[in-house]
Amino acid sequence: MSGITRPRGTQDLLPDGSPKLEVQFSARGHRHLVELAARVLENAGAQYIQTPMFEMVEVIKRGVGDSTDIVRKEMFTAKAQSDEFILRPEGTAPIVRAFVQNGLKQLPSPAKLWTFGAMFRAERPQKGRYRQFHQLDYEVLGSDDPLVDAEAIALMMQVIDRLGVKKIELKLGSVGDPEDRVQYNQYLRDLFTPHAERLSEDSKDRLVLNPMRILDSKSEGDQQIIAELQPKMMLDHLGEGASAHFQQVCAYLTAWGIPFTVDPSIVRGLDYYRRTAWEIHHEGVGAKSALGGGGRYDGLAELLGGPHTPGIGWAFGIERLLIAMDAEGVKLPEPEGLLLYVGALEEAALGQAAQLAFGARSLGKADFSYKAKAPGKQIQDALKKNARFVALIGSSEMEQGVVTLKNLSTGEQSTIPQTDLLSKLQ
Ligand code: HAM
Repeated sequence: MSGITRPRGTQDLLPDGSPKLEVQFSARGHRHLVELAARVLENAGAQYIQTPMFEMVEVIKRGVGDSTDIVRKEMFTAKAQSDEFILRPEGTAPIVRAFVQNGLKQLPSPAKLWTFGAMFRAERPQKGRYRQFHQLDYEVLGSDDPLVDAEAIALMMQVIDRLGVKKIELKLGSVGDPEDRVQYNQYLRDLFTPHAERLSEDSKDRLVLNPMRILDSKSEGDQQIIAELQPKMMLDHLGEGASAHFQQVCAYLTAWGIPFTVDPSIVRGLDYYRRTAWEIHHEGVGAKSALGGGGRYDGLAELLGGPHTPGIGWAFGIERLLIAMDAEGVKLPEPEGLLLYVGALEEAALGQAAQLAFGARSLGKADFSYKAKAPGKQIQDALKKNARFVALIGSSEMEQGVVTLKNLSTGEQSTIPQTDLLSKLQ
């Protein structure tokens, strides 16, 4: 193709049978995950919401946070005349913006919402890390009850369980309340400042903006300094409120038999988090990349100009879920075969064969042959399409207003009036 390709880090989601189809870009796989998550989340009372693909820059800068990699390095901006926008890098800040702007506080509280869709981050592309990727996202607004946190985590695990993925690890921590963070960041600043010269350029900035993010640094040099200094973790700096909240979340999960590891080093890559924060990891996706993650964000609505509205949520990367399924050999469910295949035996019957298939589509999948063929050939084609019934029609059937209907699993065959076809299929 004369140099016209899709941009790096993006992908076409393709139908089954496409040559070189990679599992994480299977259109059917994406759809399966969305439908499965929709069932799990809607059974738990969540409602579907969708926000625009692009937002005002301020929503993301304020919401996600100025010190994050997402805002500092990975923003996709879009220009229209003199206006500048940002392609959404995640779903939470846009949903909270929509919640505030549309007065969704009126909904029964807490409001449970879910969405899915493309997100955009200008990262360096590699397997499992793309510039356009897709998330499944669940958010609960209006409660800071630890039971809501535990339920959110349980729902995330239920999605994993329904998918059939097993080898996961749930890493749970707490990033404390803002006042705990101020204290902890001061502790880190005091600890790292004498070594500032050795830190990466990014971490020098982090030392000023948000020292906690140094712990999350991808630089090997930074990780070596961290290993030397052995900083105490946020979890050891929780205030009473955050600590009691965290214990309660852990107690619910334990009571429900949901296995988790307390991970004091959880930092998360977004600034809005408070208290509960977690990630789900899978060995097939790689140690540095999570299958999904989430946390509480009680101050986000206020940052976006709304009233105080506690919130919590999570997101999975759809491509990464598909990679994890593939790594464990979990297959996607086979697509349902045809209910009916209609084959014309002579050219004159092609139009009527098509029309019979159109009618049967009110009951299920139905298709027809675009070419007239001998009965044996039509039956072969029907079998290839995994059809349950095949109907054959030629000029004599047309004259008599009948059709030959064969049940392909029992071999039973009869000639029936065309007007009876739907009731027979039913
Ligand atoms: P996040 O950890 O930035 O959190 O992203 C959630 C998931 O999206 C990741 O665990 C990963 O599976 C997937 N993901 C992120 N970046 C990429 C990428 N470049 N390529 C492929 N997959 C990626 C959030 O976005 C939060 N909004 C989650 C949340 C919801 N917190 C509270 N509510």
